[in-house]
Amino acid sequence: MNRSDHLKVLIDEQALQERVKTLGRQIREDYGEEPITAIGVLKGSFIFMADLVRAIGGDVKVEFLGVSSYHGGTRSTGVVRITQDLRHPIEGQHCLIIEDIVDTGLTMDYLHRMLDVRGPKSLKTVSLLDKPANREIEGVDIDFVGFTIPDEFVVGYGLDLGELFRNLPYIAVYTP
Ligand code: IMP
Repeated sequence: MNRSDHLKVLIDEQALQERVKTLGRQIREDYGEEPITAIGVLKGSFIFMADLVRAIGGDVKVEFLGVSSYHGGTRSTGVVRITQDLRHPIEGQHCLIIEDIVDTGLTMDYLHRMLDVRGPKSLKTVSLLDKPANREIEGVDIDFVGFTIPDEFVVGYGLDLGELFRNLPYIAVYTP
């Protein structure tokens, strides 16, 4: 079986690009001319973040947080491990957490609580994808969502399965 036999396009490249541009405009409108500290959650958000910060425009600082919650499989372990912390304090800054996908909500909830105590001026969140079917944390805060998707394991545009498929320019459902 060829690897492409496992992949079915869910969101194509054009739809992704259009939605990310709209999200960027919406986020910039929300913040007005205020500078934003964009905090990308590695590794999954790196491609989304690169496109999103350009769509946001204006003054944007870029920071990264390394997080590991899956260990190569398609199911969450429920354990959030910080593999790389921020390099600079965020006190007094308008911060925007950038995630690739919110599934159980454990990661976003953990990161929100972890950063909130560092005293940002504001703390908002954006996720390219929202998979509400598996939510374990009710009321997890996502201020801006790209697409709400069904309960399927997806790859591409930064999202991986065992570190592969991140470089696909579209989002695809992976079926083993
Ligand atoms: P949560 O903590 O269960 O909300 O999961 C968040 C993290 O799990 C995301 O940042 C992804 O890295 C990973 N994840 C969840 N669902 C998927 C998926 O369908 N494909 C790839 N990674 C996923």
